[in-house]
Amino acid sequence: MSLTTLCLPPSSSLPPIRTLLVAPTAVITSALHNLQTLYCPLRLPTTFAKARVAELAQVDSGYASRDEDEDAVDAEDALVTLRADEFERAYAVRWLTSLIGRAEELELEDEDDRERIVGDAAFILSSFSDSTAEDADESLTRDFSFPTPKNGTIDIQLNDAPLSGTDHTDVGLQSWGASIIFSELMCKEPARFGLNAFPEDATIIELGAGTGLVSLTLGKLLPTLADSKVEILATDYHPTVLENLQTNIATNFPRFAEPPVKTSMLDWSLPPPALESSAHMLFAADVVYAPEHAVWLRDCAAHLLLLNGIFWLIVTVRKVGKFEGIPDTAEAAFLVEEQLPQKDGKKLKIVEKMELEKKRGIGRGDEYGYMLFKIMWV
Ligand SMILES: C[S@@+](CC[C@H](N)C(=O)[O-])C[C@H]1O[C@@H](n2cnc3c(N)ncnc32)[C@H](O)[C@@H]1O
Repeated sequence: MSLTTLCLPPSSSLPPIRTLLVAPTAVITSALHNLQTLYCPLRLPTTFAKARVAELAQVDSGYASRDEDEDAVDAEDALVTLRADEFERAYAVRWLTSLIGRAEELELEDEDDRERIVGDAAFILSSFSDSTAEDADESLTRDFSFPTPKNGTIDIQLNDAPLSGTDHTDVGLQSWGASIIFSELMCKEPARFGLNAFPEDATIIELGAGTGLVSLTLGKLLPTLADSKVEILATDYHPTVLENLQTNIATNFPRFAEPPVKTSMLDWSLPPPALESSAHMLFAADVVYAPEHAVWLRDCAAHLLLLNGIFWLIVTVRKVGKFEGIPDTAEAAFLVEEQLPQKDGKKLKIVEKMELEKKRGIGRGDEYGYMLFKIMWV
């Protein structure tokens, strides 16, 4: 495999459908993986792109004459150009549509493979009609209305800012399915998440807040549940994302001299000493999308979380292409007992795990569903 394998145009790399009818499953799977790599809307941070390039360079000839950073940037640039090519997109859509249409004719040994192939093709296909793919250049106002148990609603308005196109780390300018699904659930069943039982002056911290949907929802929901004053700190490491988040706070709390949601810069790999053991509750939605994220988040949570605190982590399950296996790293980070963070004789562990289904019309095409983890000191 070479670096250029990542960037081959669909029109010259996808096998004709008629040859696939008798092809081994691996050939079809590989073609689908390549399409997913190309058209998956969630862009990876440069660190992961670099790791990927290094991995490919090792498999290659060993003529690693170019700097890895340059290779990573070149590979990403080539992908961006190819992704925008209308002819190639139309070709990929036709290929996926005929693959699904002729799925019954594929000579496969295992029926599960047929189901998986159709599912993967349909997910990639649906990403072509997602807002990120086509509307990434335009700012979008999104309105959410989440029903509460008392027949009310929590209404949030968000500005989803355009992605820069040059910065591969500004994914937090747009709202992701995980935060929508989770915000809806919190409003529906607040007691299930302990949202009605905060002590006075409690602190909530959201990690990788992006547009801030989870924090803003909490900021409006909590006062409807109890009188206690809770401070909500929506954090992210990206300056432009934080700026957009501040706009969203102002939009949702226009008459507040002191809005209940504040922002702060926080990098999971280097959480500030001043916030040590400060959080009664932590939230993080769709934040595990590179191999190093899960361990950073685990250790960051250990630093921030009070001994009786709860960390709600919602991981987006993406099964194909470059994200394959990455959602599993969340659970894996808590598997080896000796590696678990410790505090006052307790260890930080996953105490509950829930599968949440993807909902029609919510989230990108490559999202299969969500895993919600309840993490505590035990
Ligand atoms: C896919 S977005 C999810 C945003 C939001 N939670 C949502 O669900 O819409 C991932 C977020 O994590 C942030 N992020 C990525 N790496 C980070 C790090 N090392 N420290 C803090 N935030 C980070 C990004 O800036 C982005 O806002």
